[in-house]
Amino acid sequence: MSTPPPVLVTRRLAPGVIERLTAHHAVTCHDTGEEMERAELLAAVRGRRAVLTTLNNRVDADFLDAAGPQLEIVANHAVGYHNIDLAACAERGVVVTNTPGVLTTATAEMAWALLLAATRRLGEGERLLRSGTPWTWAPTFLLGLELAGTPLGVLGMGRIGRAVARRAHAFDMPVSYHNRRELPPEEAEGADWKPLEELLATSTVLVVTCPLTAGTRHLLDARRLALLPRGAVVVSMTAGVVDEEALAAALESGALFAAAVDNFEHEPAVPPALLAQERAVLAPHLGSATVRTRQAMGGLAVDNILAVLAGGEPLTPLKP
Ligand code: GLV
Repeated sequence: MSTPPPVLVTRRLAPGVIERLTAHHAVTCHDTGEEMERAELLAAVRGRRAVLTTLNNRVDADFLDAAGPQLEIVANHAVGYHNIDLAACAERGVVVTNTPGVLTTATAEMAWALLLAATRRLGEGERLLRSGTPWTWAPTFLLGLELAGTPLGVLGMGRIGRAVARRAHAFDMPVSYHNRRELPPEEAEGADWKPLEELLATSTVLVVTCPLTAGTRHLLDARRLALLPRGAVVVSMTAGVVDEEALAAALESGALFAAAVDNFEHEPAVPPALLAQERAVLAPHLGSATVRTRQAMGGLAVDNILAVLAGGEPLTPLKP
C-alpha cells in the first residue's frame, strides 16, 4: 500500500492556517465542513506521522493502533484534552500537545458575554421580539440583575479564570475564587481565595472555568448548586463540571435566577431540560470562536507538528 501524506488534519482550519503546514509537508485535510465519522477517522490516520485533532476526535488505543507505530504527534486544536488518552499515547511514545494561552482572551470575553446575557435576560428578550409577541415598556418588564456591587465567584483560577476576574473590576464587582492552590496575591487579580463551599455560599454570580478532569466532573452537582444564594446566576465555560440536569432543575425550581452554558457534556446534544428553561442562555461552544483566536490555536497546533516532525521539542506538550 502506498504511503499517505505524513500529516492528517481532521477539520477545516481558520483562514491561513493550513498553508503554514503545506509549506513544509504533504497534508491530507478533511475539508468538507463535516465531522469525520469514527470509522473514517480510523482509516484516515493509518500511516501518518502527525494528526491535528479536535475535541471531537477520540484518541485512544484503537486510534493509536489504527495509526501505526510511525505516529509521532497528536496536536489537539483545543486547550482541553479530555478526548485524549494521554497514558496510551505516552506508552507508545506519541507526543500530545494542546493550545494553552492563545484562547484566554476570547474565552474570557465570551464568559462576560454570557454573564451579561444571562443577568440581563437577553435571550428571553430576543425570543420575545422574534416571536412577534406583543410587548410594551413597563416598570416591571424583564427585570434583570445589576452587576455593580454584586459578588462574583470564579471557580478555577487558571489563565481563563484570571482573565475573567480581571475584567470584573470594570463592572465594580467584588471577586472571590476557588482553586486547588491559593495564588500569590500578585496573580490573584484582586480576588480573595475561598474554600469551595464558602465560595458557592457567597457568590451571586458564579463563573466556572476550571478544566474538566476526573476530579472536577460534576463538581457542581445538585447538592453544591443548592449552596449558592437564592437567585444566583451560573455561567459554565467547561462542559462536564456543572451537572446539566441539576442546573436545569435549579432553574426550574427558581433557586437560580439564570444560567449560561457555553459547552455541553455530550455535544452536539443539548439536554432538553436545559432547552426548556427560558432563563438559560445556551451557546454552541463559542468560547474561543474568534478569527484571531482560531488562527492562533491552529497556528500553535501547526507549530507543534512542525517542531516534532523536524526532530525538535513540542512547544506545548501534555504529560499524563
Ligand atoms: C475548548 O473549547 C477547548 O479549547 O478546550
